[in-house]
Amino acid sequence: MIGIGVIGCGYWGPNLIRNFNSQPQAKLIAISDLDEKRLNQVGLLYPDTRKTANYEDLVNDPAIDAVVVATPMSTHFKLGMAALEAGKHVFIEKPMATNSDDCRTLIAAAAARNLKLMVGHTFVYSPPVRMIKSLLDDGELGDIYYVNIARVNLGIFQKDANVIWDLAPHDVAMLNFLFGAEPVAVSATGHCYVQKELGIEDVAFVTLEYPGGRLVHIHVSWLDPKKIRTCTFVGSSKMLVYDDVSPSEKIRVYDKGVDVQPHYEGFGEFQLQYRSGDVFLPHVDTYEPLKAEAAHFLDMIQDKVVCQSDGTHGLKVVEVLEAACLSLKDDGRRIALELIG
Ligand SMILES: NC(=O)c1ccc[n+]([C@@H]2O[C@H](COP(=O)([O-])OP(=O)(O)OC[C@H]3O[C@@H](n4cnc5c(N)ncnc54)[C@H](O)[C@@H]3O)[C@@H](O)[C@H]2O)c1
Repeated sequence: MIGIGVIGCGYWGPNLIRNFNSQPQAKLIAISDLDEKRLNQVGLLYPDTRKTANYEDLVNDPAIDAVVVATPMSTHFKLGMAALEAGKHVFIEKPMATNSDDCRTLIAAAAARNLKLMVGHTFVYSPPVRMIKSLLDDGELGDIYYVNIARVNLGIFQKDANVIWDLAPHDVAMLNFLFGAEPVAVSATGHCYVQKELGIEDVAFVTLEYPGGRLVHIHVSWLDPKKIRTCTFVGSSKMLVYDDVSPSEKIRVYDKGVDVQPHYEGFGEFQLQYRSGDVFLPHVDTYEPLKAEAAHFLDMIQDKVVCQSDGTHGLKVVEVLEAACLSLKDDGRRIALELIG
């Protein structure tokens, strides 16, 4: 049994606590939160689990093998390092840290101690994303031309991060996983409408350029009337729409496109032929992504799998977020990314 301690019992932490607690290979040993009222509320559901307001008690607990960090991103580096220095494997929520240097320090600290480090990029483990990955890998859509993503709703306004750091990690992590590549360039524009005094952007439009001319546009917002989670993939053969809020039809594959036909009447002439065929709704499994993510971390600790959202994956996401924010502050300047090994 792998002993688990979870730091952070706010909005997201209880989901991780529940999912780690339900894993047959793990035992939930302790939970921690600075807010004792919240700690006790969540703790009521886990009467056999130790509770502490001091994360140091948790990271130094000899019964704990792995620490899950589910606190605000500004605390990820400090808490992650404390757990690694105490000899624990670490699972850190997204984004891995507030800058890429801190990510590199975490990766080196884990490697030096032969400890595992994973980042909670939940979408990498979600059934629809897994389905899209297998469709892309099978060439079902042909070459991907571009992807358009909307991740918008009203709130939750964050105080320690702008909307890019809060919402875009999901999209960048998902796309890096789907394409098996990282963007070569980033640009972004955005604005602070509500938290003007704090200078925290609540709306942003991010453009990513992936190798092979694949363009991605991501609209992230905390200021939108409707919760929308839609990704449209346009390929040379087919097109796919992934709607994560649809209860039953998350993925639709459209046999639509445009073929360029040579025109024999004149040299260099061509005709465009529009295709509009069937719409296919592939069956998508319905398991909870967090359950798969928790199991993956436990398997990783036991060397049963190669992690799909390890420290390096987390770092590459943070590099894109950093570049996007640099561009945001510089009128949307295109920032070329230096790819790391
Ligand atoms: N993977 C996902 O889909 C997903 C979804 C939502 C949030 N998140 C991530 O989860 C993390 C937490 O987000 P949230 O929305 O739950 O935030 P939150 O503010 O609701 O909760 C954070 C909790 O951490 C506690 N905390 C802060 N510092 C602490 C410390 N030193 N020791 C113990 N407790 C401490 C706070 O008291 C608070 O209760 C963030 O990194 C966020 O990006 C991930």
